[in-house]
Amino acid sequence: MAKDRIISRDSHPLDAPVEAESAGVMRPSSLGDYIGQPELKERLTIALDAARQRSDPMEHTLLHGPPGLGKTTLAHIIANEMGTRAYVTSGPALTKGGDLVGTLTRMQPGDILFIDEIHRLPAAVEEYVYPAMEDFKIDFTLDSGIHAKVITYNLKPFTLIGATTRAGLLTGALRSRFGLSHRIDYYQQDELVEILARALGRLGIEGVPTEAIDEIARRSRGTPRIGLRLMRRVRDFAQVRHNGKLTPEVVMEALALEGVDDAGLDKLDRTYLSTLIRVYQGGPAGLEAIAATMGEDPGTLEDVVEPYLLQIGFMARTRQGRQITPEGRNWVSEASKGDSKLFDG
Ligand code: ADE
Repeated sequence: MAKDRIISRDSHPLDAPVEAESAGVMRPSSLGDYIGQPELKERLTIALDAARQRSDPMEHTLLHGPPGLGKTTLAHIIANEMGTRAYVTSGPALTKGGDLVGTLTRMQPGDILFIDEIHRLPAAVEEYVYPAMEDFKIDFTLDSGIHAKVITYNLKPFTLIGATTRAGLLTGALRSRFGLSHRIDYYQQDELVEILARALGRLGIEGVPTEAIDEIARRSRGTPRIGLRLMRRVRDFAQVRHNGKLTPEVVMEALALEGVDDAGLDKLDRTYLSTLIRVYQGGPAGLEAIAATMGEDPGTLEDVVEPYLLQIGFMARTRQGRQITPEGRNWVSEASKGDSKLFDG
């Protein structure tokens, strides 16, 4: 299952206890501690300073970009910097307008309402959100028909932070109500190394050679959440098999066991590439056809497998369909020479 992949960018259900338990130690709590995204940090610093000087809440902010890059972390940082609280929910968790009333009416001035996957907010809830964002008011309808009664609640000025992996799916009306909108990009190798090194430090794991951290970062697909997850698997492996010694060799051994290769690809990515080559002569081939051959869901391939393969230039999307690139073909051929088991069914 794609969701169970160790390199999945989605927050994994199994990570929940770990993330909850270590969120406080693992997450940066101020913008100064946040690594990467320099333009975003600068824009947020200005918006935060200006808001604090005026004693206003910060402007409503939309963060968009691939999963795992720190959108939720930023919402917590903003609340911390404002000295307020963050209330966290998600588009699919809110089914009717009333679902937000409790939280919105409880929020204090400057508090943050973070809505993840805001592109999946049902239309009925979106209707509630507009006046809340614009006038800090919500109209709640009690009963229906001739007995219907509208109660207007005045809210304390708050900040909505919306996060989405699919900014294009937001309605224009919602998008236009955000004062700030910023795309979060993939992280550079040196930024990932720094994030992982700090996380190791926070876990009290000292003396790990830079080359070992480099190896983990290289397989992290530019994504801190993936890097931190791989790091935990490597830590377990080193602890159980190598007396806690974390060397580049141990990293490679641990991640080979997890099926993550040196390009950061896992079994599903490799099956996608080898299917494209073996069955479709490298393409162009339709997504539905590739998915049917693999016995996978086309949406999963599109959302979970293709973005990274496109990013590293191993495949292209053309008008005629999906196509392997010379780099992708080369990599498959080199990798299968090196380790034929990588491509075993
Ligand atoms: N942990 C996860 N993402 C981070 C980031 N961008 N900076 C610092 N620590 C992090």
